[in-house]
Amino acid sequence: MPEQLRAPTPASGAEAAPASAAAPTRRAVIRTVAATGGAAATVAFLAACTGDAGDDGATDAVPAEPVELPVAEVPVGGGAVLTAHHLVVTQPTSGDYRAFSAICTHQGCPVSSVEDRGVYCACHSSYFDIASGNPVAGPATTALTSAPVALDGETLVIG
Ligand code: FES
Repeated sequence: MPEQLRAPTPASGAEAAPASAAAPTRRAVIRTVAATGGAAATVAFLAACTGDAGDDGATDAVPAEPVELPVAEVPVGGGAVLTAHHLVVTQPTSGDYRAFSAICTHQGCPVSSVEDRGVYCACHSSYFDIASGNPVAGPATTALTSAPVALDGETLVIG
């Protein structure tokens, strides 16, 4: 059973994620395509059982199936964008992991990266706080929707 982590602080316009995560019955396998050091990293991965890119068009922050990500892919003070699953996972402080929908609340573009200023949407240059998902710059006025995240050994389980 994964260890439960602190849930993100609910923000205005954002729904709090459920506090518990059931043991996944089928888990996605992660393949790291790109990850960089520092405060930003972008990670893409494929679902092992389906062989597809995982792009189901969903915009909900909670994936249909739990998604696994090695903790090493999420730098302290930064995060990783999981493009195929429309998720962004952050680590505002050491050991404190958060997950959000990667769909920008301004006009629905996928966020592109995690920068020093926060989760970045390149469509119109909105930034979101990596701890709360709240908008901090740009035209977005609503927080990113949070998703449950739990730690299972050296693996993060989102959903
Ligand atoms: S859609 Fe993200 S800033 Fe406009």
